[in-house]
Amino acid sequence: MSSTRHFMTELQAVPQMDLAAQYAAIGAEIREAVANVLASQQFVLGKEGAALEREVAELCGVQHGIGVASGTDALILALRAVGVSAGDEVILPPFTFVATGSAVSALGAKPVFADIDPQTFNIHPDEIAKRISSRTRAILVVHLYGLAADMDPIRSVAQRAGIPVVEDNAQAIGAAYKGKPTGALGDVACISFYPTKNLGAYGDAGMIVTNSAEMDTRLRTLRNHGQASRYNSVEPGWNSRLDELQATILGVKLRYLRDWENARRAHAAEYSKLLAPVSAVKPPHIPAGYQHVFHQYTIRAQRRDELQKFLSDRKIGNAVYYPIPLHLQPIYATLGHQRGSFPESERAANEVVSLPLFPELKSEQIARVCAAIAEFYRG
Ligand SMILES: Cc1ncc(COP(=O)(O)O)c(C=O)c1O
Repeated sequence: MSSTRHFMTELQAVPQMDLAAQYAAIGAEIREAVANVLASQQFVLGKEGAALEREVAELCGVQHGIGVASGTDALILALRAVGVSAGDEVILPPFTFVATGSAVSALGAKPVFADIDPQTFNIHPDEIAKRISSRTRAILVVHLYGLAADMDPIRSVAQRAGIPVVEDNAQAIGAAYKGKPTGALGDVACISFYPTKNLGAYGDAGMIVTNSAEMDTRLRTLRNHGQASRYNSVEPGWNSRLDELQATILGVKLRYLRDWENARRAHAAEYSKLLAPVSAVKPPHIPAGYQHVFHQYTIRAQRRDELQKFLSDRKIGNAVYYPIPLHLQPIYATLGHQRGSFPESERAANEVVSLPLFPELKSEQIARVCAAIAEFYRG
């Protein structure tokens, strides 16, 4: 009896995300697709990967897609392909997942941080301009939470300096900026298919997209031991290929991505409407002309840590992406930054909290989350 009651309480919890609900809806199609790959016994660099490369490139409005083993590998290979190597500098925001920085470090290059725009949480174009030096080899822009960075001024700065722009599009597949998809806004873009992403694999996977045929050829070489043709290695490369099982799973899910995105946007609008009267929180800002895909629904909240505890006590999912900006991470201690070096990134790290968001989320659940937030600030 008591375990039944416990189960009922658990059922009323609002999870941060719910991949099981998605699997319940599409599991039969996924199992069939996986069975076909198993029957083919072709697991690496086959037709499923090639088909997914075409489809994702098309979604991003570019000519080429190159499947790789993760979003992090996509960043490392793309940075290498635009010419980054040891001793170079790469400009990036400190308010991001550590992979954005560690990809730069993996090549022996130096991350040079540029603070964010507090409205969008994305790298500020003016901050980039201040940090360009003779050693800058790339600008690495992150489209955080599913919202594009302000790419027009960023591209202008980059063009004036003759520096390539790499998009970290790990969180924003399907988003758009002034009518153009993320992935088509720089010289090359990197996508993560980590399971929790809007388009998530059942393991690690990633892709690089670009309009450059030259970069496409180079990246296919880099992901496969630097082999320009079989057993002919022309430069040091990696083993970083997207496997056929992940590709076929992603191919099934891709058919639903637009519907899922629309559901996410509708949920976000509902949250923002219900939270509007709560002056202690600030819902996400969507600048005019941007299409947000709400990988996360992230608010700024007064007394954030207390609010988190209040929500967790009521079994309401919540998470902070990201609590420590990169310039304050132990791996970057040697760069000599301190608290106060990038004030907007630090303020965001202290104030943000992401609320439950996934396509299958119900209106009642959104209402429950918002009621709990209102109750917290009333109390
Ligand atoms: C902004 C950002 N960059 C890079 C990555 C790395 O992607 P992956 O986990 O697929 O290596 C992620 C996701 O984890 C991310 O959110």
